[in-house]
Amino acid sequence: MTAIPTLTHLPVLAAEVVDALQPTPGKVFVDGTLGGAGHTRLLLEAGARVYGIDQDPFALERARQQEGLEGLSVLQGNYRDMAELLAAQGVNAVDGVLLDIGVSSFQLDDGERGFSYHTEAPLDMRMSQSGESAADVVNGYAPEDLASIIYEYGEDRLSRRIARAIVQAREQAPIETTVQLADIVKRAYPGFSKGIHPARRTFQALRIYVNDELGALRDGLSAAETILKPGGRLAVISFHSLEDRIVKRFLLGSETLSALTKRPVIASEAEQGSNPRARSAKLRTAEKEGAEEKS
Ligand SMILES: C[S@@+](CC[C@H](N)C(=O)[O-])C[C@H]1O[C@@H](n2cnc3c(N)ncnc32)[C@H](O)[C@@H]1O
Repeated sequence: MTAIPTLTHLPVLAAEVVDALQPTPGKVFVDGTLGGAGHTRLLLEAGARVYGIDQDPFALERARQQEGLEGLSVLQGNYRDMAELLAAQGVNAVDGVLLDIGVSSFQLDDGERGFSYHTEAPLDMRMSQSGESAADVVNGYAPEDLASIIYEYGEDRLSRRIARAIVQAREQAPIETTVQLADIVKRAYPGFSKGIHPARRTFQALRIYVNDELGALRDGLSAAETILKPGGRLAVISFHSLEDRIVKRFLLGSETLSALTKRPVIASEAEQGSNPRARSAKLRTAEKEGAEEKS
């Protein structure tokens, strides 16, 4: 297994990603979810070139300010558009694509972004800072649409009850902040006293919906398949079953990509112990057909 140097923000399943993507000098990669550039830094340290995409302008600004990222080209946009973003740079095929999906700890910890039900903030949740916010959805959608978002993307069996509670609350006054929404959801959960906050699933659902995360993943997988060179590698890290199911089905149905492992790779006990975010991480990797035989 590849040795990983000590980093301030250790990316999830870092050694496993590097092993799968096999960066070497001269190879070109797309990191579709640049975030804190943790994985990208490792690819660059191996001598590869990286096109780092992120839809969050703040993530890109942080990456631009980091030192030691020579060989990185930063592109703002959605990874679902990676083929077009790369074509605009004159690149039509790459050796590897990485997607480490979801939000970064920077985004969760940023009190202004509205991703966390613990921190009082405007109910926003838009990674790209454009389009409908979580507040627009919560205050404007019909109860049955709210219930299906919470059921489908949060897998919360009390979705209808939560939707009714939201509608009752917004009839009094618009729901504008994270903690307001978290309290409304909590009150809809009979008998909750301790444990995981009942709003966790509703917040997950709204975040996935507002950012069209599952649609972006489906489109991003197809785009990656198109731009990978023969023998190129794909690595996707997901954090809940809805995403992992999409990746698994995509690879099963693909005519040109073959999964490198039958089951997803999960973090070691040591990594799970030191980084709670790694506990739910699943890595699926695949190779594009047509690699030249080594003689
Ligand atoms: C989990 S973090 C990536 C962390 C990164 N691998 C690292 O090591 O620091 C996910 C990042 O992807 C971005 N992101 C999520 N979905 C995206 C999409 N569809 N297109 C572009 N960026 C996206 C988020 O804004 C966030 O910065």
